[in-house]
Amino acid sequence: MHLKNLKLKNFRNYETCEIEFPGNKILLAGKNAQGKTNLLEAIYYLASLSSFRPGTDSELLKWGAENCLIQADIHKHGTDIELRAIINPPKQKVLKVNGLKKTSFAGFLGNLTVVNFNVSDLLLLRGAPSDRRKWLDDAISQVYPAYKDRLAKYSRIRTQRNNLLKEYKNFPQEELLSVLDEQLGVAGSNIIHLRQKYLKEIRQIACRKHKNIAFEQEELNIIYVSTVTGEFDTLNDKIQKPDEILEKFHNALDEKRAGEIARAQTVVGPHRDDTSFIINGKNAVNFASQGQQRTVTLALKLAEIDLIEEIAGESPVLLLDDVLAELDNERQNFLLKSIKENTQTIITTTGLSAFNEDYLRDKKVYNIEAGRIYEGN
Ligand SMILES: Nc1ncnc2c1ncn2[C@@H]1O[C@H](COP(=O)(O)OP(=O)(O)OP(=O)(O)O)[C@@H](O)[C@H]1O
Ligand SMILES: [Mg+2]
Repeated sequence: MHLKNLKLKNFRNYETCEIEFPGNKILLAGKNAQGKTNLLEAIYYLASLSSFRPGTDSELLKWGAENCLIQADIHKHGTDIELRAIINPPKQKVLKVNGLKKTSFAGFLGNLTVVNFNVSDLLLLRGAPSDRRKWLDDAISQVYPAYKDRLAKYSRIRTQRNNLLKEYKNFPQEELLSVLDEQLGVAGSNIIHLRQKYLKEIRQIACRKHKNIAFEQEELNIIYVSTVTGEFDTLNDKIQKPDEILEKFHNALDEKRAGEIARAQTVVGPHRDDTSFIINGKNAVNFASQGQQRTVTLALKLAEIDLIEEIAGESPVLLLDDVLAELDNERQNFLLKSIKENTQTIITTTGLSAFNEDYLRDKKVYNIEAGRIYEGN
C-alpha cells in the first residue's frame, strides 16, 4: 500500500494543500501549531472516515468554510485508486472512489489502511472507556469495512430508543419499544461479535510483540468487558455467534428495563462496553507503570500493522505523530527496527535534530509552516 499524494481544501488550517509522498519514509517537520497533525488527521480520515481527535466532522472545516475536501491517490495491489471525501455538514459527506459515488461506508473503507500512533495513544490504557471504544471501532472499520455502517445503524436506533424512553413515563409505547429492542439487539450483537473477533486476533499478535519488548518477562491479555455478555477473555473464551449474543442482549434489556425507563437512557449495549488490558494477571488500569503502559500500546500498534497486512494482504501506511520523542531509547529502537522497509511511514517532528543522519539519508522531508508545505532538504 502506497499513499501517492494528498490534496486538501479548507481542511483545518489548510486553505489548499497538495503534497506528494514519494518513497516510504516521509518526515513532516515544523514548529508547534503549524499543521503537522492536521495533515495526518486528513490521511487518517480517508482510512477510517473519522478523526483520531474527539469532536464532530464540522470541526474539520477551516474556520468560516462551508465544506472541505480531502483527496488522495493510492497504489494498492498494483492498481491506482483515487479517494475523495467532501465534508459538508449538516448534509451527509460525499464519498467517491475513482470518481464513483459510494452510498455506504463499506464501499469506501478498506481502500486506504493506516495505523496511527500518537502521544495520546500512550494514555489508551488509562484513558476513558470512550477512548478505547474509539480505538477499537476505527481499527475494526479498516479491516471489516461493513462494521462502520453497522455502528452508524446501531447509533441511529439508540438515538430513536432514547427519545422514546424520554417520553415513556408520560406516553408508554410498549410495542414500539419492543421493535426498537429487537433492532438494537441485532445491530449491537453484530458489533460485539466483531469486537470479540478483532480483539482475539489482535491479542495473539500483540502478545508476541509485547513479550519481545518486555523481554519475555510479562504476559499480556485482553478482556472485552461487556454490558451484554459480561467478560470475554480473548485468550480462553470462544468467539460468540451474533445469535448467542442477541439472546443475552434481550435478557440484559429485560433486566434493565425499569432502570432504563427511569433514567430515560439505553444503558445496555456496545456503546457502554470497555476493553481491559491485563499484565501478568493484573489490570493495567490500576497497576501498570507509565513504561508498562507504553510497552502495551507499542505492542498493540505493531500488532495492528501485522493484522492489517495479514487481512488486506498489504502493509498499511504508518502515521507516527510526535511519538518517537515520547519513547525511551529502547522502545524507540524497537519501533524503528520493527517497521519493515515496505511499510510507508509518515513521521511528524518539531526538529530534525532528534534523528541521526543515517536515519535521515533517504527520507523525503517537508517543512510545514502555518498551513503551507515547503520542500525540505
Ligand atoms: N478548524 C480549524 N480551522 C482553522 N485552523 C484550525 C482548525 N482546527 C485547528 N486549527 C489550527 O491548526 C493549527 C495546527 O494544528 P496542528 O495540530 O496540526 O499543529 P502541529 O503542527 O501538529 O503542532 P504540534 O507540534 O504542537 O503538535 C493550530 O494552530 C490550530 O489552531
Ligand atoms: Mg501535532
